[in-house]
Amino acid sequence: YGAWLNHLPLAEGAYREHAASWTKAVVAEGTELCVLTALSELEDGIAKLTGKRPEKDIPQNGSRYIAIGTFAGSAAAKETFSREEQAEVAAEGFRIRTSGRSIVIAGASAQGVLYGAFHLLRLISSGASLDELNLLENPVNGIRMINQWDNIDGSIERGYAGNSIFYANDDIVDDLTRVRDYARMLASVGLNAISINNVNAHRYETMFITERFLPKVARVAETFRKYGIKTFLSINFAAPIEVGGLETADPLEASVQEWWKERAAEIYRYIPDFGGFLVKADSENRPGPFTYDRDHADGANMLADALRPFGGVVIWRCFVYNCKQDWRDRKTDRARAAYDHFTPLDGRFKDNVILQVKNGPMDFQVREPLSPLFGAMPNTNMTIEFQITQEYTGQQRHLCYLVPQWKEALEFETYARGEGSTVKRVADGTLFGRSYGGFAAVSNIGDDANWTGHPLAQANLYGYGRLAWNPDLTSEGIAAEWITQTFGSNEQVLETVSGMLMESWSIYESYTAPLGVGWMVTPHYHYGPDVDGYEYSKWGTYHFADLHGIGVDRTVKSGTGYTAQYQGSNAEVYESLERTPDELLLFFHHVPYTHVLKSGKTVIQHIYDTRFEGAERAAGLTAKWNSLEGLIEPSIFEEGKQRFLIQEEHAQHWRDVLNTYFFRKSGLPDALGRTIY
Ligand code: GCU
Repeated sequence: YGAWLNHLPLAEGAYREHAASWTKAVVAEGTELCVLTALSELEDGIAKLTGKRPEKDIPQNGSRYIAIGTFAGSAAAKETFSREEQAEVAAEGFRIRTSGRSIVIAGASAQGVLYGAFHLLRLISSGASLDELNLLENPVNGIRMINQWDNIDGSIERGYAGNSIFYANDDIVDDLTRVRDYARMLASVGLNAISINNVNAHRYETMFITERFLPKVARVAETFRKYGIKTFLSINFAAPIEVGGLETADPLEASVQEWWKERAAEIYRYIPDFGGFLVKADSENRPGPFTYDRDHADGANMLADALRPFGGVVIWRCFVYNCKQDWRDRKTDRARAAYDHFTPLDGRFKDNVILQVKNGPMDFQVREPLSPLFGAMPNTNMTIEFQITQEYTGQQRHLCYLVPQWKEALEFETYARGEGSTVKRVADGTLFGRSYGGFAAVSNIGDDANWTGHPLAQANLYGYGRLAWNPDLTSEGIAAEWITQTFGSNEQVLETVSGMLMESWSIYESYTAPLGVGWMVTPHYHYGPDVDGYEYSKWGTYHFADLHGIGVDRTVKSGTGYTAQYQGSNAEVYESLERTPDELLLFFHHVPYTHVLKSGKTVIQHIYDTRFEGAERAAGLTAKWNSLEGLIEPSIFEEGKQRFLIQEEHAQHWRDVLNTYFFRKSGLPDALGRTIY
């Protein structure tokens, strides 16, 4: 339950003595909320790690201790770091230094101090020497946000770990213990913002911005505030009609603008540091400005004006596309939609509007190219949206460590300002010098005792936070941190689990939809194979497999023209059948089954081979996990074991369904003559 914050007792021995000797006391100067939180986190964490609860005052007997505080509020912080050193610390950053008999954790803000406290605990868990600490950490991204897709009835859209910890029976829960524990987890990895309700804001959630729910929303916000996390709400664009009794939600109507201004003023009376609104508009049947012939800049700016006096921001999602397509219509391309809708609006959004763009142009598939919107709107604030919850990546029954996928996205070269214009620099705002930027991601937690259903899925939440803080951390490094804090320092556990995490994305990809084409899942649930499940529906997610070939032609030459949305050589690479990387081939091109890949295999043989290998590798995960019996806490071991058995079985199902489908479509046999049903 404590996840990576269990602070497992250090093994008896020299390191434990070392840690205990440095942590005889924790002395906090300052009364800011987050400094007090940092103090109690350090006290509790150290007590668990070393078995000894630290004192609160500087030891009189000359023992060593930890001193924490902000540069403004703490003498220790001010004296330990020079003016220049203080100036190098960003608003939410921190410095830690061993100085004489103390370890000083200092920040420009109380929030920085809190992150520093969690960092020190992380260092102790991983056995780092405390004798000569001297480090500076600044978060790379300003916005480090989590999106809950929780509904007030307690369900979670795309949730795979139980019910909501926020809601039950059409209300916000009174007992916020679990929300507090969640806040701790988020803050411990440096996250600083959360939207607490589903982007699809239904009837009651639409009323969260009214007196009916605001007192309870304020309690939630207070819980997060102690951990330096700002609360946001997802709003319903049609709220002026649905709860305000107006006849329109037209953003250019004075009465509508007035109504939102009143709402904002009231929200800030309850929650003075309220973050702002997250908005899904004109998307998948949600209301939006299109109803009134207005564009998304009109809609977002109207809300931004209402929030500006209070310092709030509008986070406006770009997941806008035509979800009522006909599969015969080869012109409309869902992948094109966000770019087509939003790039003409570049420069029109107010300063406190931030566009939130999904990493790929479709929808969190196991493999997608990067959304071409990154780099295409230099005059607009932007955050990148990832999905931690494994909607399309095995729903926390299959293991899929997503950090490597996110890393690949962040390192993608957009060429927007020549070489070095990576997506991570668009996201953090530095490429175009934007005032706001960062990460958002859909949470993967619920009220399951282990938070995430699959015990190893916790690594995705942990990794997301660490990556939002610093996108240059490695996937292996993050995995190792998480494993040691969660399972302790056993080498075999570290090596085995790390290996499993690192190969899991590739394993999942190898038995599901091939070569970047996506979907092939059971409609609506998005779990399990159904190759044609979405093929003739309205969602625009086609693979176009027939007896001759498969794939979506998105070229300028003969397809939807999507490749032209990319900049520099990306446009040429994706336009070219020869140059498109194998793993994205079917996203960009329609090819015969006999087309030869760069790997030297034909498309059909690739499909067969990877399905067979994928199922075998999934079985390998079971064996690896089972080798850890006795080394991992029995209940967690058992939970994992059950999941790996399911994955193994379902991977075989994927293999068989896909192989049969393509064998029957193409009539081409497997070169190795394996069983295809
Ligand atoms: C996906 C997902 C929906 C969700 C939507 C969104 O389509 O299946 O449940 O509402 O994304 O991101 O808004």
